[in-house]
Amino acid sequence: MHWPVEAATEVLPLPEVNQRRLAQDLRMLAHIGASPGGGINRLAFTAEEREAHSYVAARMREAGLTVRGDAIGNTFGCRPGGREGLPAIVLGSHLDSIYEGGQFDGTVGVVGALEAVRALNEQNIATLHPIIAVAFAAEEGARFGASNLGSRALVGDLPQEELRRLHDGNGTSVAVAIQQLGFPLKEIPTCRWDSRQVGAFVELHIEQSAGLETLRKPVGIVDAIGAATRLRINLIGRPDHSGATSMSLRRDALAAAAEIVLNVERIARETAGRNTVATVGKLNVKPGVITVVPGEVEMDIDIRDIDADMKDIATSAMEAMVHEVARRRGIQERIELLTHQLPSTLAMWTREAIRGVCQEMGVDYRVLPSGAGHDARVMADLAPAAMILVRNKSGISHSPAEWVEMSDIVLGVQVLTNTVLKLDDALAQRRGEGKHP
Ligand code: GLV
Ligand code: MN
Ligand code: MN
Repeated sequence: MHWPVEAATEVLPLPEVNQRRLAQDLRMLAHIGASPGGGINRLAFTAEEREAHSYVAARMREAGLTVRGDAIGNTFGCRPGGREGLPAIVLGSHLDSIYEGGQFDGTVGVVGALEAVRALNEQNIATLHPIIAVAFAAEEGARFGASNLGSRALVGDLPQEELRRLHDGNGTSVAVAIQQLGFPLKEIPTCRWDSRQVGAFVELHIEQSAGLETLRKPVGIVDAIGAATRLRINLIGRPDHSGATSMSLRRDALAAAAEIVLNVERIARETAGRNTVATVGKLNVKPGVITVVPGEVEMDIDIRDIDADMKDIATSAMEAMVHEVARRRGIQERIELLTHQLPSTLAMWTREAIRGVCQEMGVDYRVLPSGAGHDARVMADLAPAAMILVRNKSGISHSPAEWVEMSDIVLGVQVLTNTVLKLDDALAQRRGEGKHP
């Protein structure tokens, strides 16, 4: 039998992720917006979020990428491909955080994209397709109630009406917050990308629960991403004297809210699908005085599912319940729809590319859905999208207690880097060009 000895012994350089460099970037970013209690505060459209983008833009420039930003505050670093006119492989995640968030949510995916490009550069590995590392702006819904504002601008799904309607807790609208940072509001439509510009999108992210840790698997490959519907409920009762008002005469907005909170939990548990979750994470009580029957409550409900129909069923049941509780208690109610997202199923062939990489590397993985929201859900509207999850040792996220081992991050970034090469070939093959040398 004849063996092609030359071909078999040819040693191709492999891109190798640099742990020290990755750790340094994560450490530097963990200082931006850090509170004394250890939480990260880089809310959407704040100076802290911008500082993180500046840090990443500087590292992108050092890596030789062509850096640009857009009118919503996304940051892009482009590495050219070997052939003109091909769609890009886009990698990245977000740099903003919730109030008192963890240091890995979003950041790992941005730093991972940057490191993937640096690893390719170091070994002089060219790709046919351009690679774009992206740091999205305003992924978290914590400040304004709506998420993914940066990636939604990219897919052309961010109406000006919404930017003017949504406000933070201080009454600042998204539109005003954007302009205060010097971004030109009127130019947001120019953020939109043509889907022909993107061959595939890959987001590396920490897992935000204990699934992989429980399974003792370091890597997850996401098949579907859940979505949120968020409702803001305003309850107007009557503020009154806490000593002089008999129990039968009260119109207590907070007591109504308490009943609603427990019913939200019950509906999510009982009436809806297995993946339905619902949370009341925010409640403002007025006047907030110990000697006054609460007259007014504003509460936000976050309802999520991977199944859009089950989410809609749960949402309708919750709306009906709010009306019933309010009517029975003599409370005036108003329900505002803050956001209504659709879940996304990720492309099979991009998922298979990651699976192939894991098998080649001997990395144990699990294919699983993500209950947490991600920019990949939005980017899937523009191009085939994929997500790699890194095991979360703490099993906790959206909390300063979020913790991921460096060895798992390095492994995730290596899977991401190798996936870029796999996608570079897969995209050529899908055009019928065969494997490129
Ligand atoms: C983002 O982290 C979200 O799912 O809220
Ligand atoms: Mn988050
Ligand atoms: Mn995130």
